[in-house]
Amino acid sequence: MLADELKEQTRVVHADLEKKLLSHIQVVNDSDRYVSLLRLMYGYYAGLEEKLDHHKDHLPDYTARRKSAAILNDLKRLAYPTHDLPVCHDLPEIDSPAAALGAMYVLEGSTLGGKIISKMLLKQVPTLDGAITFFQGYHDETIDMWQKFKNHLHASVTNDDFEETHRAASETFVKFKKWLEHHDAKKL
Ligand code: HEM
Repeated sequence: MLADELKEQTRVVHADLEKKLLSHIQVVNDSDRYVSLLRLMYGYYAGLEEKLDHHKDHLPDYTARRKSAAILNDLKRLAYPTHDLPVCHDLPEIDSPAAALGAMYVLEGSTLGGKIISKMLLKQVPTLDGAITFFQGYHDETIDMWQKFKNHLHASVTNDDFEETHRAASETFVKFKKWLEHHDAKKL
């Protein structure tokens, strides 16, 4: 299946990003630190979603899928202002439906890690309960949503498109890591 190939070919960049993000998660020991993490996540997801919006007719269940809007809700839940959030501008090039699907593969796949992340965060700061919806993704439907997305990917990305989907997926991982590195050791 096409998603299996993408998984194989992005294994290293996923592991690199996971390691980097974990370093930002492990330091969360109060709601201020959690807000910094949410701001970081927002900066990348909101920037990327703006690009994906142009291709939404080619993306499966686009409006129903997890969005940076969930981060805004989590911030509001913590009574944190949402008017001056950072937005990343060094983003992957998304100029075709094949590229948009590659980037979306990364964002959708991240819901699988989200389950682990939300458990870690709740253990570290139990009072965050109720303000962690972004990381909780689709709750019990996470696996179904992922399977549905993979089916769509398989049905719509042709062999000729694959290189472009792969390029966009890899770039989405790499640029996210760059964005996190840029904010290393800084409270955003
Ligand atoms: C602490 C950080 C993370 C952890 C612990 C984590 C963990 C995981 C786990 C357990 C899976 C399922 C692997 C499997 O079923 O074989 C997964 C898959 C995936 N994750 Fe992560 N992840 C993290 C961060 C991220 C981030 C930040 C992204 C992208 C923004 C991401 C993108 C993906 C993708 C695309 C897949 C699907 C791979 C596939 O089956 O095709 N992950 N992750």
